[in-house]
Amino acid sequence: MIIPQISAIHLQKQFRQNGPDFPRQLQQTFGDLFRVRLPLLPPIYFALHPDHVYAVMSQAKPPLEKPTLMRRALQSSFGNGLFTSQGEFWRRQRRLIQPAFHHGRIARYAAPMTGHAQKMVNGWQDGQIVSIGEAMHELTFTIVMDALFSTDEAAANTTIVHQAVRDLGQGLAAFSRSLPLSFLPAWMPLPALRQKRRGERALAQCVQAMIAERRALGEAASPPDLLTTLLFARDEETGEGMSDQQLQNELITLYIAGHDTTAILLSWAWVLLAQHESAAAQLTAELTQTLNGRPPTAADLPQLPYAQMIVKETLRLYPPAWYLFRQAEAGLTLEGEPIPDGAIIFLMPYTTQRDGRWFAEPDNFQPERWRDGFEKSLSKGAYFPFGLGPRTCIGNGFALMEAQLLLATIAQRFRLEQLTTAKMADTPTLGLAAPVQMRLHKR
Ligand code: HEM
Repeated sequence: MIIPQISAIHLQKQFRQNGPDFPRQLQQTFGDLFRVRLPLLPPIYFALHPDHVYAVMSQAKPPLEKPTLMRRALQSSFGNGLFTSQGEFWRRQRRLIQPAFHHGRIARYAAPMTGHAQKMVNGWQDGQIVSIGEAMHELTFTIVMDALFSTDEAAANTTIVHQAVRDLGQGLAAFSRSLPLSFLPAWMPLPALRQKRRGERALAQCVQAMIAERRALGEAASPPDLLTTLLFARDEETGEGMSDQQLQNELITLYIAGHDTTAILLSWAWVLLAQHESAAAQLTAELTQTLNGRPPTAADLPQLPYAQMIVKETLRLYPPAWYLFRQAEAGLTLEGEPIPDGAIIFLMPYTTQRDGRWFAEPDNFQPERWRDGFEKSLSKGAYFPFGLGPRTCIGNGFALMEAQLLLATIAQRFRLEQLTTAKMADTPTLGLAAPVQMRLHKR
């Protein structure tokens, strides 16, 4: 087959008109695999069929890396951390960090997760109006601070880190909206770059101070959080640990990757529940039956299948990481056509997961579709909110546990009524474009 080609102007027009829905419109005309011509950049492909996703993310040997261009753009903020590193270095780091995310280890974060959520709802009043995105960001931020550093919201460094993360996030968002900006040298005196740099500096200083404090404390006296686990982790093969600089890169990576995505997932879950009364009612019934008013624990999660289905269905409709990319290597073929060495391939969870060939009534919120082993019946690359293959999200289990626990804790106490429209942002994570106000109704 001949892979259809589209022009950069057509791509830009579609993106402006349709936001994150743009590849769906292109797919209708050009099919599951098409190529974009952009001046000065390697060839760009959009690969939208589950078989393409599986071939690119999981099957390629050796595994395909993230594109050099994108890794460089992200490295000024994340350093050479798990998200941006590659090859043997990445493999070693993944081996070191993976044990900290084993099922048994993350279960210990269930109680603080529920505790922070309860604290938040204890402060909520009946009839109060909250901006849901902000409330969820504050909550997941507090939880990741606690899990990583055993630091609560009252600690001085929490405020500094919070501001630094905001600066960094806003700087990065401005960056991603304007492609030319991402090619400018980082020292240029532009407001977005200055804000991003300020965030990077403050975050690095704060994390270094926490590492130094913990090293001085020693392993025996340190709290059992992620910082302690990573600080004293030793590679099984080489016996080596991480340098302070590498530890800083990994902590900042986990920190940013670990709260924004989960906050976005929860924000959309509240929007969907506010718009689907019967789903909200089923969730409340399940919570009453299983918990009868007491806070949920990790052990309750298997008894809360409907809450889990809501999480899965929200991740299908609004995957926080709505596009991913890989760099082709010689020998890769898709639909029988060779893909040039160095080409950038976009994989789009948002598009593939809303394809009517794999999901009936694809734009409808139907948590029930996840009943009875539906997930197992799907093709391997049809549903991939956490990615696929060797670079799959390390925080997958952490995020799913957190989302289910927070949903249960909050929905038990409040019903949320949506007052303003929810629109998708066109940033690298699929957040809310503008604040969504919700009125709280106490149960
Ligand atoms: C709903 C929540 C989350 C979603 C949707 C999500 C999504 C993803 C996706 C799609 C990838 C793969 C990117 C790629 O292959 O290009 C990824 C990687 C990663 N995620 Fe998550 N994530 C979530 C939560 C978390 C949490 C809670 C943490 C840590 C506490 C985390 C840490 C990471 C890291 C470190 C990587 C890079 C892994 C590697 O390359 O080895 N994520 N995430």
